[in-house]
Amino acid sequence: MQRIIAAAAIGLAALTLNTAALADDPVVIKFSHVVAENTPKGQMANKFKELVEEKTDGSVVVEVYPNSQLFGDDKVLEAMLLGDVQMAAPALSKFSRYTDVLALYDLPFLFDDMAAVDRFQQSEHGQAMLDSLSKKGLVGLGYLHNGMKQLSSSQPLRTPEDAKGLKFRIMSSEVLEAQFEAVGAAPLKKPFSEVFTLLQTKAIDGQENSWSNIYSKKFFEVQPYVTESNHGLLDYMVVSSKEFWSGLSDEQRAQVQEALDEALAFGNEVAMQKGTEDRQKIADSGRSEIIELTPEERAQWVEAMKPVWAQFEEEIGAELIEAAYQSNGG
Ligand code: SIN
Repeated sequence: MQRIIAAAAIGLAALTLNTAALADDPVVIKFSHVVAENTPKGQMANKFKELVEEKTDGSVVVEVYPNSQLFGDDKVLEAMLLGDVQMAAPALSKFSRYTDVLALYDLPFLFDDMAAVDRFQQSEHGQAMLDSLSKKGLVGLGYLHNGMKQLSSSQPLRTPEDAKGLKFRIMSSEVLEAQFEAVGAAPLKKPFSEVFTLLQTKAIDGQENSWSNIYSKKFFEVQPYVTESNHGLLDYMVVSSKEFWSGLSDEQRAQVQEALDEALAFGNEVAMQKGTEDRQKIADSGRSEIIELTPEERAQWVEAMKPVWAQFEEEIGAELIEAAYQSNGG
């Protein structure tokens, strides 16, 4: 009898220990991204990890997977809906399978500068767009900047005529496809992780990206020219699945959102700095010539690419396009 009581006591103790261990199990957020750590998104994700773990006292931990280590942008949203990853910040161009409205951000020459982008994203329209993925089971938690896009190429690009017949890698966006078709170029949708090799092996002639990505992924080492076109925007939306997000306790959700807001503000500062610093590093490298366009040359690109707006007006909404355009403030 005594043995039975002892065995029961041991069993009970083990059960109690187990339950305690479970209660101590932190919530894990796998944060997957495709860029290097020394980029606005890489730095933001690392800061987010630090802040979440501090604010939640370790009850939520963040594992950051950079450089497409866990998922490429072509797979990450599916993986999120399956619960294999909890957060990511794909470029706004990569949501086209989930919503039409975010295609707005791909319209060429829509925003004059990052201040205009900021004004629009903080406006009622910009904030409402964070909810555009809701029907697909995703929740938009905030925007992050990278910067304006430039055109890198195997040959000098001064006018749209120079791009005719060249192959450019693009993100998975119909607007970007139309943008390159508008100048007679051949766009190819390819994952970010393949871009360097495609450029190095000359399977493609060029690509468009921010200074930070052109520098951190060494595209400038295999592309002798970068045209400072500032023709488009590379920005991100931080997303989670509705299932994961609503499964957090109210307190954890508020702490994680607070950590994210602070990390995004930090990441946006990094983006500002990197836009200037990485451009300079590319110029100093002597590997790639930076082509500055005259106002007349730039006007030719605008004229060639702007008809793309009308092509997507119905899908995106004329009112939204006008609101974004007005954010240029004069
Ligand atoms: C990124 O900045 O996340 C990737 C952009 C790209 O695919 O070109």
